[in-house]
Amino acid sequence: METLIPTINRLQEVFQTVGAEIIQLPQIVVVGSQSSGKSSVLESLVGRDVLPRGSGIVTRRPLVLQLINVVPLQQRLKLESGNFTFTHIFNKRGAEEWGTFLHHKNQIFTDFQEIRQEIEKETERSSGDNKGISPEPIHLKIFSPKVLNLTLVDLPGITKVPVGDQPEDIEAQVQGMILSFISNPNSVILAVSPANSDLATSDALKLAREVDPDGRRTLLVVSKLDLMDAGTDALEVLLGRVIPVRLGIIGVVNRSQHDINTQKSLEDTMKDEHAFLQRHYPSLASRTGSRYLAKTLSRLLMHHIRDCLPDLKTRVTVLSAQYQARLSSYGQPVEDHSATLLQIVTKFASDYCNTIEGTARYIQTSELCGGARICY
Ligand code: GDP
Ligand code: NA
Ligand code: MG
Repeated sequence: METLIPTINRLQEVFQTVGAEIIQLPQIVVVGSQSSGKSSVLESLVGRDVLPRGSGIVTRRPLVLQLINVVPLQQRLKLESGNFTFTHIFNKRGAEEWGTFLHHKNQIFTDFQEIRQEIEKETERSSGDNKGISPEPIHLKIFSPKVLNLTLVDLPGITKVPVGDQPEDIEAQVQGMILSFISNPNSVILAVSPANSDLATSDALKLAREVDPDGRRTLLVVSKLDLMDAGTDALEVLLGRVIPVRLGIIGVVNRSQHDINTQKSLEDTMKDEHAFLQRHYPSLASRTGSRYLAKTLSRLLMHHIRDCLPDLKTRVTVLSAQYQARLSSYGQPVEDHSATLLQIVTKFASDYCNTIEGTARYIQTSELCGGARICY
């Protein structure tokens, strides 16, 4: 994800300069059965310990997590020097990254553990402390120089049997909640299915199919590769031979409950995941894992941006012509900046096309996708 940041920031600047809406990136929504590893998958994408996870129903309200890219602290301090603003005071405390909640507008969280505790507290406030659920989303913003401007949605998992304070129709309620998010055509669905249960019974894929029958915006994540019975592996599933998924099937190993309890770091988790994949899936190692998942998502986002480019070009040209006309009516010499803007857009488009062509060729010539083809 991180390689995309400078490019997208640059493009957002162009968009702002010409007064166009900034690029609306699709939001990424995780779906799956309870404890399939949804929160863990999102967390590895964010690269921060921020979401509550665990066995049983932990995520009981939708969490809309908006990542916001900010310039690094050093730069911020320079920009703001002399400007005694609230952010300045705050930055002086040295916060490179911080979070805010919609329900707590005035409080700034710099400690990610406190953010997690606040999510838990706010979940209990509206859904009680006995496993109840609520469709009312919690809105959290994370500001950091290391994130893309992107919205991720964590959702409660699909369950069948009510426990605690859960209503009789818990299954229907959770499904309704999930559908309300994934039916938005501007969402990418990360369907999470654990490797130690049968893919054919995957609730995640079933729901995704309902709103995305052609599989244009669904990616399958197979979690818990490390928890399969001895003597079995997920190779056939990952190769798309059990159920093909157009945009791809990506296996991951997240932190186990023991890892969470012993506070294993995300870096160590990634390292161990990599070693595990090398050992058990050597032929697939470069196309599995959390890092590859992040890359794949980046690629999907690039597709989206590519689709926005023609509009952007038209807009630059039209605006430029308007300003030219207005300026020459004043009889002033005209300095034209639109060429520079167009250069940025064009360069981006051509860099982008090279990358995508490379990727597309790679996908078509390998057998790894179970006959799948990138269709964008
Ligand atoms: P969610 O309910 O779908 O959001 O799932 P969580 O992310 O809360 O994970 C549920 C439990 O499964 C937690 O105890 C995680 O530590 C554990 N878990 C998730 N993914 C994996 C994995 O890939 N391997 C192992 N061993 N445990 C995992
Ligand atoms: Na869980
Ligand atoms: Mg969860």
